[in-house]
Amino acid sequence: MASRSATLFLFLSCLLMITTFASVSNAYSLEGYSYDYLPKTSIPKKVVLNVIDSCWRWKSNWATNRQALADCAVGFGKGAIGGKYGAIYVVTSPADDPVNPKFGTLRYGVIQTKPLWIIFAKDMVIRLKNELIMTSYKTIDGRGAKVEIGNGPCITIQDVNHVIIHGIGIHDCKPGKAGLVRSSTTHVGRRGGSDGDAIDIFASSNIWIDHCFLARSADGLIDVIHASTAVTISNNYFSQHDKVMLLGHNDKFTADKVMKVTIVFNRFGERLIERMPRVRIGYAHVANNRYDEWKMYAIGGSANPTILSEGNYFAAPNDSNSKQVTKREAKNGWKNWKWRTSKDVFINGAYFLPSGYGSCTPNYSKAQSFIVAPGAMVPALTASAGPLRCVVGKAC
Ligand SMILES: *[C@@H]1O[C@H](CO)[C@@H](O)[C@H](O)[C@H]1NC(C)=O
Ligand SMILES: *[C@@H]1O[C@H](CO)[C@@H](O)[C@H](O)[C@H]1NC(C)=O
Repeated sequence: MASRSATLFLFLSCLLMITTFASVSNAYSLEGYSYDYLPKTSIPKKVVLNVIDSCWRWKSNWATNRQALADCAVGFGKGAIGGKYGAIYVVTSPADDPVNPKFGTLRYGVIQTKPLWIIFAKDMVIRLKNELIMTSYKTIDGRGAKVEIGNGPCITIQDVNHVIIHGIGIHDCKPGKAGLVRSSTTHVGRRGGSDGDAIDIFASSNIWIDHCFLARSADGLIDVIHASTAVTISNNYFSQHDKVMLLGHNDKFTADKVMKVTIVFNRFGERLIERMPRVRIGYAHVANNRYDEWKMYAIGGSANPTILSEGNYFAAPNDSNSKQVTKREAKNGWKNWKWRTSKDVFINGAYFLPSGYGSCTPNYSKAQSFIVAPGAMVPALTASAGPLRCVVGKAC
């Protein structure tokens, strides 16, 4: 019985994956999509839903059933529940006070002790006055509004668990100044000043970042460091940035060996330079991502990380010196590092230099695992990367 229902489930998920939006294409029209940071290329009318999106996007009741999103991740961050069992909290004001946040602001929501599912009453641009320090069991859900955090310090996820960030733009992040920042209802700490990452994940686990737009920040777009693990980074649109994503604190920080990160269905868009990602010590499953170009390299590593690159779509830049997807920052001895490519598609002369021996598979649990599509399907599977324009009462 169990195996029969598993087979049926597999069949249904495959079916959903290839189901197009033919019947609800009006509801889903991206005509007039207002994000100024929308990808330049046109988005096909018929959308092929990837396994994460097919879990919820075709349902017209997303706005009254928001917490169902928490069941939709795949990969190592699958267990992230965010504010699934908490109340809905509505952000009504873009204002910010790092020490005494007012009710109705984003910061007031993210410092609460109880789980919360945080949503937005209207479009807003939030210019934070210092880093936004999140507590455990929170979801930031931008669906239904155009929400941007930028032009100031951005998000810090430190020493916490179970955070979901979905459907917002985080860009032009600046370093935070040293000073007082509230990190919970009972604690205000003196912070040394943040680096200017868009999202800094530090000593945290069960984190899922989905459908965000990330660009142009002072430091990294996403850092996963200091023994953080159980992270999924999916459906995001990255652009206009140098050091995109760093997995690992520094090459000597061996506690990062526990790190397991899934990077799936993202679009690495225009004017990116390197680190998509750069992995120092841990494990990364990089699957079904679209790489439009890179200046230096796409996937790098420096202290014997294990990397499985599976079903990605790599379009190399024209520069004949930058065709290699991979880069090892090590003087010698990287021949045994386990870096593998499978089902990847290479365009414009791109190539991946594999190394090492033995299994590189993620060993996902049943709940975490997903079918990786062939690289040729990736342009379709990533066509809606970045924040979606969701209208209440209609499929997203
Ligand atoms: C790369 O070369 C092709 C063919 O010559 C050209 O069409 C394209 O614009 C070039 N891309 C860039 C980013 O220069
Ligand atoms: C999965 O198991 C194999 C065999 O034990 C191992 O070599 C590999 O590193 C494991 N992968 C992860 C992500 O732990």
